[in-house]
Parts: sequence; structure tokens; C-alpha cells
Amino acid sequence: MLIEARNLSKIYKTKLSLVKSKNETIKAVNDVSFSIDSNQIVGLVGESGCGKSTLSRLLIRLEKPTEGVIKFNGEDIWKYNRGSLKEFRKKSQIIFQDTLTSLNPNMKILDSLMEPLDNHFNISRREKLIKIDDIISFVNLEEELLYKYPGALSGGERQRINICRALLLNPQFLICDEIISSLDVCTQACILNLIKKLNDLEGTGILFISHDISAVKYICSKILVMYRGSIVEVMDNTNENYKIKHPYTKSLLNSVPIDNPNKRNII
Ligand SMILES: Nc1ncnc2c1ncn2[C@@H]1O[C@H](COP(=O)(O)OP(=O)(O)OP(=O)(O)O)[C@@H](O)[C@H]1O
Ligand SMILES: [Mg+2]
Repeated sequence: MLIEARNLSKIYKTKLSLVKSKNETIKAVNDVSFSIDSNQIVGLVGESGCGKSTLSRLLIRLEKPTEGVIKFNGEDIWKYNRGSLKEFRKKSQIIFQDTLTSLNPNMKILDSLMEPLDNHFNISRREKLIKIDDIISFVNLEEELLYKYPGALSGGERQRINICRALLLNPQFLICDEIISSLDVCTQACILNLIKKLNDLEGTGILFISHDISAVKYICSKILVMYRGSIVEVMDNTNENYKIKHPYTKSLLNSVPIDNPNKRNII
């Protein structure tokens, strides 16, 4: 088991009024348990605000859960010493939807790609450039983009650069948090195939968060359905005869034309 979440909860306290000191608590993640193996792409779907991004921040230790345990390769991620934490930071990566704010606007793409290598690899500049060259061709980008600033790239190009940044570190675990939602259908298809290729070639365990059920059905073997902070259904996408159990999953699937034969012909 690559990553395991056991009884995870995250409660936020927020202020309700500007003048009164009244607070409200939001249970963004509520008693969630699941696991992801190496070689597995697991989908996470659910309505906006149900807790998907909060859960992903907990999984890679960007935030501390209020309750519960997260184990990476069998070790509690909150019991790491400094060295193990640095190793975990290298092995677990996240790609966010917002391509522009994920990259420093004042840094050329080449420097943004050099940064994670400088932080995690004790190799020569030439070796780093070779790694960057390999990854750029893996995602079908031209080298000339390396000398541009993020603002001069299209959304699809920036998203592929974000993917490069994550992949340069050869992560064992990758979270893709709605990385295709702002892209045109062709670029979406290209990125989905890239994710599949990564999983096939490198055995990277992937948590793929998306509102696009047809994309999730296309690449994931297991689909977690989240509703108001809880996982209400774990769908086995490898089983054609899988019977949906939860009414929310039914309404979610009914709301999108997943069986439209034309929708994913492009892939
Ligand atoms: N730092 C925070 N402080 C207070 N509340 C928060 C915080 N982060 C998230 N929330 C709340 O937790 C809930 C879950 O938010 P989250 O961003 O995880 O949802 P999501 O499923 O990723 O939504 P979307 O599909 O729109 O991205 C929301 O009600 C949100 O307002
Ligand atoms: Mg989100």
C-alpha cells in the first residue's frame, strides 16, 4: 500500500460575524478512510466544496488533520524526522488547477524547473539540463518555451510545465487536483494520456480529482465519491457490472452524459 488514510477528519473554525466573536466550525473532511497502491490511479469526485482539495492537502502534509492517520509506505507522515520529511516532499507531489499562480511569474520556465532539482538532487547542472530536456519531450513541449515567462504560455502549456515540475522528482505519489478543467478538449485528452503513460511506465500512484466523470472513468481503476466531507462510495471501475449503491453517486452520474459515445472519441 502506497498511501493509506485512516479515519481522517479536518475541522476548520471560521468567524461568522465582523463584530461579534461568534465562530462556526466546518467539518471539511469527515472520518475518511481509503488507500492507494503503486500502479493505481484513483479518482476522487464530488460537488464543489465537499472537501476534495482539503483531503489532498492532508495527504501530502500541507495541513494537519484534526483526527486520523496518514501512512506513506507504511510510515505515519506526522512522525517523520527532518530527513524523512524531505524525502517525503520529494516523493509526493501535487499539481493544482490554477496554472498561473503555481508558477513564479518572475522566473523563466527553465529556472522554475531547475528549482526542484536544485532542492533535491546533488547532480551537475548538465545532468539537470538533461533531465529537463527528457521531461519536456515526454510532455510534448518545445524547448523554446524554457526561455519564456509563465505569462507568455498558454494554459495547456503551463499545465504541462506544472506536470514537468512534479515529474522531475520522480514522485511515487502524485495528486492531480482538477488539472484539466480549464483546458480545451484536445489538451485535456493529451494530459489524460500523459497521466496514464506515467502510471504505466513509472508505476506512480495517482489521486486524480476532477468534476469530469468521463475523464475519471477513462483513467481510474477505483473512484471515490465524496459528499459533504465523507466518502460515500468506492466504485470499482474495473468491474463492468458494478452496481452503484449511494443515491448521491446515482445523481452525480445521471447529471453527466458519460455514455455519450462521441464525448471521448478524441482520446
Ligand atoms: N483554510 C480553510 N479555512 C476554513 N474553511 C476552509 C478552509 N479550506 C477549505 N475550507 C472549507 O472546507 C470546505 C471544503 O473545501 P474544499 O476546497 O476542500 O472543497 P473542494 O471539494 O475541493 O471544492 P472544489 O470542487 O470547488 O474545488 C468548504 O466549505 C471550504 O469553504
Ligand atoms: Mg478543490
